[in-house]
Amino acid sequence: MSPTLLQEVSDHHALAGAKNASYAHSDPLSEIPTLSGVDISADGSTPIIDMVALLGPRRSEAIKQIGLACEKNGFFAVKNHGIPEMKIDTMLDTAREFFHLPDEERLKFRSADPDSVIRLVTGFQDKTRNVFVSRQSLKFHCHPVEEFKSHWPSNPPSFRENVGEYCESVRKVEVAILEAISESLDLERDYIDKILKGHYVSINYYPACQESELDVTHGVRTHTDPTLITILMQDDVPGLQVINDDKWINVNPIPNAVVVHVGDILQAISNYRYKSLLHQAIVNCEKERVSIASYCYPSDDAMIGPAKKLIDEVHPAIYKDFTYREFHESMWRVKCSTAKRLDLFKPSSD
Ligand code: OGA
Ligand code: NI
Repeated sequence: MSPTLLQEVSDHHALAGAKNASYAHSDPLSEIPTLSGVDISADGSTPIIDMVALLGPRRSEAIKQIGLACEKNGFFAVKNHGIPEMKIDTMLDTAREFFHLPDEERLKFRSADPDSVIRLVTGFQDKTRNVFVSRQSLKFHCHPVEEFKSHWPSNPPSFRENVGEYCESVRKVEVAILEAISESLDLERDYIDKILKGHYVSINYYPACQESELDVTHGVRTHTDPTLITILMQDDVPGLQVINDDKWINVNPIPNAVVVHVGDILQAISNYRYKSLLHQAIVNCEKERVSIASYCYPSDDAMIGPAKKLIDEVHPAIYKDFTYREFHESMWRVKCSTAKRLDLFKPSSD
């Protein structure tokens, strides 16, 4: 079972009708969301964690910083994460190469089954809201790499090797960050790692602004990720925006750093101390953009209610205990793309 995103419910329907991955629409460019009117956070509001600090005497200080970032911001950037720069560049190049292939090569990976081990999602029009969502993505399971590799594209020929190496490197970062997050909540170091199962990658490709007859073009609409955490690697084209203190801010790419988002499952485990990050991606009119999102999710039977240690008289349990399977299945019933889908698991929702 994969941590499918609710927005993909609509992606999925769109996919069923999509004949071609390219779109030709006309849209007044001024209507496309741009970076103006948003705080620029390149050197300001993005908390930056140096992962080297987690390995040495400054570990407890770094854990405090991570806890603070999860609580106040819902995201942070990580530098010195140990993924070699070359693997990052190769991964981004491989992603671009895949999305530059002819339609028929990519469309082989379309699937009507949202739980399939790999599937391509194309851009789509939401005519009721007059919105064109331009992101194309290739989503696939990748842990353990050897179990899933044979399902991945063999074109470009280096895809499996390059993507496999990236996935294995990013997995190490996930485990280390989840350990630090557990400790930041005063839980045992392996509290979250113990329930961690797979990891699922979405290679996101945002073409340079395409014209659309619809009013607005989005990269990806506002959502939270139904994950423990998401690790996002961006190329050098800005596009990611997050809500902080009730306003949108840009999370501009920091060379060789990854961005970690708090996801819905962590919101539940932390008893609502860490809030799942509301975010979106806008399109750039001059340049295509690529990002690689790695979603970590628990095993199906894992209990993902609030950690007992975080419940007391002052902090009653915000959620009941529920399994990841129940959460995953409910996502398809509740038409909601934010952490509000967790409301089903509030004690009052019987
Ligand atoms: C995602 C996502 C944002 C981006 O893949 O879930 O939110 O900047 N991506 O590509
Ligand atoms: Ni997301």
